[in-house]
Amino acid sequence: MNDLKLAIACDHGGYELKKEILAYLDKAGIAYEDFGCDSTASVNYPVYASKVCKSIQSGDCTRGILVCGTGIGMSMAANKFKGIRAACCSDTFSARMTRMHNDANVLCLGGRVVGASLALDMVKLFIETEFEGGGRHTERLALIAEIENEQ
Ligand code: RB5
Repeated sequence: MNDLKLAIACDHGGYELKKEILAYLDKAGIAYEDFGCDSTASVNYPVYASKVCKSIQSGDCTRGILVCGTGIGMSMAANKFKGIRAACCSDTFSARMTRMHNDANVLCLGGRVVGASLALDMVKLFIETEFEGGGRHTERLALIAEIENEQ
């Protein structure tokens, strides 16, 4: 967790929640890069998913957080990127398990779905929980990568 640097972005539907998340990251001293957007003016979420995923692919950032209205569009776009395992979560159990079992490297949240307190709990779990590793989970992730490589 020491070398953790988050890439974070949102669209207009996620802007208010992203502000809450940034305030938490600042307070907690967690390193991040904010890739926009910077207001509630309408924008296209794939553009922002792309910025975050490319920064993870390049190694500039280690994990990402994407916020749109539902979290769904961001997760669809993010999962098109090689090596990205994006999870759209609305509960803390899923946010923890997707780190433990799926080694998720992007958390997608819905600013119109979850309140700030729940979202921050999920962000904390996403940051603090380590991948469990081990044979079966690693094997399943390798199978996902195999599908990715076949496309
Ligand atoms: C924007 O209105 C909305 O469609 C977007 O934020 C997101 O929810 C898409 O999945």
